[in-house]
Amino acid sequence: MTEQLAVGKELRLVVLISGGGSNLQSFIDACANGSLEGQVAAVISNKAGVKGLDRAAAADIPNIAIDHRAFDSREDFEQNLGELIESFAPDLVVLAGFMRILTAQFVNRFLGKLINIHPSLLPAYPGLHTHQRAIDAGDKKAGATVHFVTPELDGGPSVLQAQVPVLPNDSADSLAERVLRFEHKIYPAAAQWFCEGRLRMENGLAVLDGKVLSENGVIFNESAEQ
Ligand code: GRF
Repeated sequence: MTEQLAVGKELRLVVLISGGGSNLQSFIDACANGSLEGQVAAVISNKAGVKGLDRAAAADIPNIAIDHRAFDSREDFEQNLGELIESFAPDLVVLAGFMRILTAQFVNRFLGKLINIHPSLLPAYPGLHTHQRAIDAGDKKAGATVHFVTPELDGGPSVLQAQVPVLPNDSADSLAERVLRFEHKIYPAAAQWFCEGRLRMENGLAVLDGKVLSENGVIFNESAEQ
């Protein structure tokens, strides 16, 4: 079933984090400066005491920690997490450094309105240690990709991708820092497409302005910036 988005209404975003929340901050800032026409309705972390929760509090956004270790099973945690998310009536659920693997059941509950940013040029390097893997492979380019989430880990259709050079003396940390600066541009920009009603997932494909996107999604350049 395709849900119709009420265009013109300010969409509600629930952001899931596990840590520092620099991507969350880019959403808070983009909502504040009007480049993202939505509101962060809540921030939920599976870890207490993380900086991202402080960022939400500083912006007067409801912020909640729900510790996965307090539940007997992944399913039990996800059931409670899903109910918590739904209590904020989100139009879009934004994974921003949320470090838990999600079951198909959870993903399907929010299918089509669940997005993630992954620090690689998807479909290359799903999973962890992406920057080190790009350096070890001798890649000339690395980057990050915003994608819809499907049950396959980091396997959902790509929406928007930032490509940056890998420099000769890069460490995983220096490369991560360069990529992160672009994450902060592409993630709110992709969310804005969704909020404008231009972006949706259809039959497992990302569709922007009625056109199916390629396996890398749109390649970011400054004109993609809102
Ligand atoms: C980012 O590198 C993002 O690509 C990955 O997790 C990290 C989150 O960083 N999914 P932050 O918490 O947003 O600073």
